[in-house]
Amino acid sequence: MINTALSAEVSTAAARRRTFAIISHPDAGKTTLTEKLLLYSGLIRTAGMVRGRKGGKATASDWMGMEQERGISITASAMQFPYKQAVINLLDTPGHQDFSEDTYRTLTAADSAIMVIDAAKGVEAQTRKLFAVCRLRRIPVLTLINKMDVPGRPPLDLMTEVEQALNIHASAINWPIGSGDEFIGIVNRADSQVELFQRTTHGGATKVEVRTMPLAALAQSERVSPDVLAQVQHDLELLEIAGNPFSREAFLQGEVTPVFFASALTNFGIESFLDAFVRLAPSPGARLADRDDGSELSVDPVTMPFSAYVFKLQANMNPKHRDSTAFLRVCSGRFERDMVVKHHRLDKEIRLSRPHSLVAQERSTVEEAFPGDIIGIINPGLFAIGDTISTTGGFNFKPLPQFQPEIFAHIRPSDVGKRKSFDKGMWQMTQEGTVQLMRSLYAQDPLIAAVGRLQFDVLQYRLREEYRVETVLDALPFTCSAWLDGDPMTFKAPSASMILKDQRDRVVVLFSDQLMKTIARDRNPGHTLRDMG
Ligand code: G4P
Repeated sequence: MINTALSAEVSTAAARRRTFAIISHPDAGKTTLTEKLLLYSGLIRTAGMVRGRKGGKATASDWMGMEQERGISITASAMQFPYKQAVINLLDTPGHQDFSEDTYRTLTAADSAIMVIDAAKGVEAQTRKLFAVCRLRRIPVLTLINKMDVPGRPPLDLMTEVEQALNIHASAINWPIGSGDEFIGIVNRADSQVELFQRTTHGGATKVEVRTMPLAALAQSERVSPDVLAQVQHDLELLEIAGNPFSREAFLQGEVTPVFFASALTNFGIESFLDAFVRLAPSPGARLADRDDGSELSVDPVTMPFSAYVFKLQANMNPKHRDSTAFLRVCSGRFERDMVVKHHRLDKEIRLSRPHSLVAQERSTVEEAFPGDIIGIINPGLFAIGDTISTTGGFNFKPLPQFQPEIFAHIRPSDVGKRKSFDKGMWQMTQEGTVQLMRSLYAQDPLIAAVGRLQFDVLQYRLREEYRVETVLDALPFTCSAWLDGDPMTFKAPSASMILKDQRDRVVVLFSDQLMKTIARDRNPGHTLRDMG
């Protein structure tokens, strides 16, 4: 037990924390929403600095450059800043060509997620994958249907698609008034209050003006056409008949997702969404761990002293700084710089003397951190993904899942004389979780697997830079995989599949495509094919 004053400090700090990630398919509006979060938190006065860059996408350094004078703490993995009464920890979930296992692992450090969906496109592939991780980890998800200012699909269709594609109940918290050019406001369903928006600046650079009125008064507004009004009333009636009242309890259990309609670009509906997010999303809760004696332990964020786990390792690509960084999520208690903690896997004490966050390429030292916060520790080879550290010792947080790889290759050194360095580098890199290593049940050939191409690039780069080994990759014609429960000898494998074992000695099946995987499932009712291991 920790002393009462400290406990009160940790309790207050933890209650303010909202540690979350944005899950979306590329182009749905994640960057735009992030920027609006900064706008509405008062940290920037005008949005558009990132989006306005000609033809460019936001990058970590854009954020760093943008906010260096504002004291936002940005690690390569998370950004921390206040929003009204809350302290936000926004975890970075890289998409596009940077999509990798780290994207998934980072989600394990989140207490909630915001799912951004493009109103014209509905639920897309990357969103499904990321949502599946949230489901596995029981992470509550809020849904933001974005881009309501451009013609999109009917809101009721989108609600149905969320429910059917993701197999979750959807409960509309607000409802759009019009769409495309006619999108002028939203109705909050709980109190039937309307928010009408007035476009201020082009591209939503500044906050939007909001006029509120009761729904009953909307008919008197000259801004709403009779058709739009009739449509809203019709939809709201249908929603009432369908029932599905929102329950925060069910949301926290991951059984229902509250749905909001908005336009991040014009800021329409963004502030009330962000306020609702802070109100509904959970602060850091207890995390499950296994005690050394095998019994289960629930690590309470407030009553337990400091504990954290490593969810991501990042090698420094800058040859001048060869060190790598371990990113830790604080799970309980108060972290202080120079703290001496127990490293459970290595069974030794270490001093956390160089905790940092990165602001504008400069490392700045973190003096203290609380449950939900992310700290980066320069990693002198001490940490592996999933490692637990704490002041008490005696337990390990549950291991992180492994995620279904989608690209596969054989790898070998170009020069056979470099085999020894190659083996050493491969051992180190697979320990760090850069790629997954697999081996055939029938042959000794190593095979590497990843969820994104970036992981292979990082592997080859590091083997070259750190181990002086050039490598050759031979890509394999598989696009998906699953962990197999049941006897592999009786498993009826479809054509163009391959059976392997992973690093933890579990059986994995690779398939040429999703169809083959479905066929395999149908053919083998006595076996289970799992997407995460
Ligand atoms: P991402 O991070 O999820 O990949 O998406 P991002 O925010 O970069 O948005 C992708 C594109 O969608 C951008 O346009 C952005 O301006 C636009 N967008 C985001 N939210 C909205 C919205 O609510 N309404 C409309 N109409 N557009 C939205 P772009 O053309 O790629 O970039 P830019 O030239 O506008 O900066």
